[in-house]
Amino acid sequence: MQSINDQDLGTPARRAEQTVTLEVDGREVTVPAGTSLMRAAALAGVMVPKLCASDSLEPFGSCRLCLVQIEGRNGYPASCTTPVEPGMKVRTQSEKLANLRRGVMELYMSDHPLDPFECKAGGKCELHEMARVVGLERVRYADDGRSHRGAPVDDSNPYFSFDPARCIVCSRCVRACDEIQGTFALTIDGRGFNSQMSPGQHQHYSESECVSCGACVQACPTDALMEKTLLEKGRADRAVITTCAYCGVGCSFKAEIRGDQIVRMVPNKNGLPNHGHSCVKGRFAWGYATHPDRVTKPMIRERTSDPWREVSWDEALRYAAAEFKRVQRQYGRGAVGGITSSRCTNEEAYLVQKLVRAAFGNNNVDTCARVCHSPTGYGLKTAFGTPAGTQDFDSVLAADVIMVIGANPTEGHPVFASIMKRRLRAGARLVVADPRQIELVRLPHVAADYFLQLVPGTNVALFNALAHTVVTEGLANEQFVNERCDAREYGAWRAFIADPVNSPEATEKITGVAAAVVRGAARLYARGPNSAIYYGLGVTEHSQGSTAVLAMANLAMVTGNLGRPGVGVNPLRGQNNVQGSNDVGSFPHELTGYRHVSDPQLRAQFEQEWRVTLDPEPGLRIPNMFDAALDGSFKGLYVEGEDIAQSDPNSQHVAAALAAMEIVVVQDIFMNETAKFAHVFLPGSSFLEKNGTFTNAERRISMVRKVLPALAGKEDWEVTCDLARALGYPMEYGHPSAIMDEIARLTPTFAGVSYAKLERLGSVQWPCNELAPMGTPVMHVGEFVRGKGRFLPSAYVPTDERTSARYPLILTTGRILTQYNVGTQTRRTKNVVWHDEDLLEIHPHDAEQRGVRDGDWVEIASRAGAITLRARITERVQPGVVYTTFHHPESGANVVTTENSDWATNCPEYKVTAIQVMPTARRPERLPAGQIPESARLAGK
Ligand code: SF4
Ligand code: SF4
Ligand code: SF4
Ligand code: FES
Repeated sequence: MQSINDQDLGTPARRAEQTVTLEVDGREVTVPAGTSLMRAAALAGVMVPKLCASDSLEPFGSCRLCLVQIEGRNGYPASCTTPVEPGMKVRTQSEKLANLRRGVMELYMSDHPLDPFECKAGGKCELHEMARVVGLERVRYADDGRSHRGAPVDDSNPYFSFDPARCIVCSRCVRACDEIQGTFALTIDGRGFNSQMSPGQHQHYSESECVSCGACVQACPTDALMEKTLLEKGRADRAVITTCAYCGVGCSFKAEIRGDQIVRMVPNKNGLPNHGHSCVKGRFAWGYATHPDRVTKPMIRERTSDPWREVSWDEALRYAAAEFKRVQRQYGRGAVGGITSSRCTNEEAYLVQKLVRAAFGNNNVDTCARVCHSPTGYGLKTAFGTPAGTQDFDSVLAADVIMVIGANPTEGHPVFASIMKRRLRAGARLVVADPRQIELVRLPHVAADYFLQLVPGTNVALFNALAHTVVTEGLANEQFVNERCDAREYGAWRAFIADPVNSPEATEKITGVAAAVVRGAARLYARGPNSAIYYGLGVTEHSQGSTAVLAMANLAMVTGNLGRPGVGVNPLRGQNNVQGSNDVGSFPHELTGYRHVSDPQLRAQFEQEWRVTLDPEPGLRIPNMFDAALDGSFKGLYVEGEDIAQSDPNSQHVAAALAAMEIVVVQDIFMNETAKFAHVFLPGSSFLEKNGTFTNAERRISMVRKVLPALAGKEDWEVTCDLARALGYPMEYGHPSAIMDEIARLTPTFAGVSYAKLERLGSVQWPCNELAPMGTPVMHVGEFVRGKGRFLPSAYVPTDERTSARYPLILTTGRILTQYNVGTQTRRTKNVVWHDEDLLEIHPHDAEQRGVRDGDWVEIASRAGAITLRARITERVQPGVVYTTFHHPESGANVVTTENSDWATNCPEYKVTAIQVMPTARRPERLPAGQIPESARLAGK
């Protein structure tokens, strides 16, 4: 069903240099060559009736409702499939056309059950709208002929139902699944009257390949495919445009509301990251926002062994502030700190770091990006001058070669994956580098040209081998390097990389990837002509995470793949606002815009705006805070929107550190693991309950708009302001727009950003300033932000985490589509039907050696701890490597991970843990969403 106020021009826009001028119902219109008559007519202000056409799908020409007449030609061609020609004179209205259209509609309506002029949701659907448009008032055919009435409804999907009786077999759903989502789950089965839409091979939706993205539901012009919430709650009376709060794609949605309830989330057709598409999480998994587990009252307790006591906001904030001040008096100014969240808005993250720097008076602020993409920040800033992805998402449509490294876009970044798959189906070549055979390696109509199935922890050796091939086989783009990069550093790097120690033949025994495969992939990437790298946490969460990012930057520079559409080095960010929380000063050594806190001129600007004196010394990183807590010098922490007890490595260490603190203040929407160690709980607001902005992986700043009132009465930014005031530091803002204005005043890359501009443009990509008032889709055009690009040697150093006789396997981790991080949100939605436990994937050879059968419970023991999971035997993983997801806290994946971390940024080495797997009779505890079991916490060591 279409959402309110979306105008559909019938067929997609065409790009062409040539234009064509024609006349439609006497109105002259000029359009790009290749445009359909239907779209040309719509652009001239004439809407031709249609059913099977939609401007998000290629024309199909099946319904015959859009017939027109063309002067000088016989017949009645379908306007959706007929391209414009110069000088055409088209008529869309005549008595003959009206009769033909009424006849078509009458046949459709004769097979539409119940009251033929009303649909299930009690409102208008396109079918009924078209019946009205063509003037069909009654159906002449008797009600006792053959019909599809009574066909059983498919209710197997938790979020939408399919009623075959309401289906007009227009094929829009099939085409949406093929063209937009790229899953090919639907088909039109049978012929003539017996033809019907069917998921898979006469299957229910739940048994088919369907990934519940909802594109088919959105495309359906009738009420055959419909959201269950729409059926339950009725049609919306208004809509608010906002941004998804799950992954770093940052899809734009229309939240449709009736009264004070959300009816459904409809992907925004004008949303630039997603162009009207979505995945199952953003579109359907929003019910957690009103889940009964939400904490809506502030609470305090003096000791963590005491029960929580509900108190007023005023009392909670006064207590928290008094405790922070006491701790600072007793242990020193640096004894407290704060953690910002990549789940919260830019404005909220900015305020938390401001509170730490201005009200606590130190720089002890850090963010959860520490544990995911901090090496991206370090590596890309060092090489290019900006710690962010180089391209916009649509840039991938101009790529000839796509290299996906350590990322699993179809699971982790599904809407971007759909755009990428579209480009791959159109002919782009694909290289995948991953320890595990991810879905992209082989899909309907998509197959990797090269799959580099490397041993976890050997990324740097592999990237060096790729670059070695480029340099030694004469594939370097010397012109680009000469013009754009530092010549002295290039010379040194060239000598380093050409060393035979970096050759594919020499690294083969390290990476496990055959030299010929590496050489083939390197040649493909170097010859492009447009080659793009997309990477994820499989690159960053290593002891050499930063080196790996530098190595990818070297590879892109030496092949000249930067500074234009279709190329670049692009991190796929896990959380919705990882980029933004970093941008606005969440790191202990940097103020907004990644500028070092030791710069006196910079500090002076902030001191003037904030009216305080700032500490010139960088503060503590998260792991240093934990160490200091155990040393007794760090005693107080304000954590907004993060569950560090669960998401940081080596849970026992984190728990001990938190337990050693005297004041822990947690601000969150649910009671979480960290809150077990807290003395004050401040109820947070979900993304539906506040105003602000998120910045996605393509540096795009998008509005988050308040859809529902804040359940606890305050938005998160208001809580931080109140806490700052209670600490004696005035923070006064009437609206988050004023916070963004302050960020813009203080940050050159944000200087042109304002809510007024975001309202006008929909979203904008930073840098946005006087040099780029409309934002910057592609960075480093003509020149790198830092001037000359830097080549830095990237010697491979094996991780300290080695396999041994006792721990002979390597565990690596990843995500699946339907769950999100530790499941705090998605486990409180119907998404649990698809993934209710984390499984351990193990190769048949390793399973057989250990007597493990598919479905057996196994203990996974590392040097840090032990957990229990059920085994799934699969060849997706290579021998010697096992894999699991980390969405269910009872799995306790972080219990087994070690304290190894990236040399430059302390990003934990989540992706490489030496383990042993053995069958066990023990079962993990089943817990509510958001808790780690005691047994997992205490196991091992
Ligand atoms: S929900 Fe998405 S994946 Fe499933 S059938 Fe519809 S379009 Fe295809
Ligand atoms: S389910 Fe809807 S979109 Fe699919 S064929 Fe039927 S009417 Fe068309
Ligand atoms: S792709 Fe990411 S941002 Fe888009 S709907 Fe899915 S979870 Fe939300
Ligand atoms: S809209 Fe053109 S044939 Fe259906």
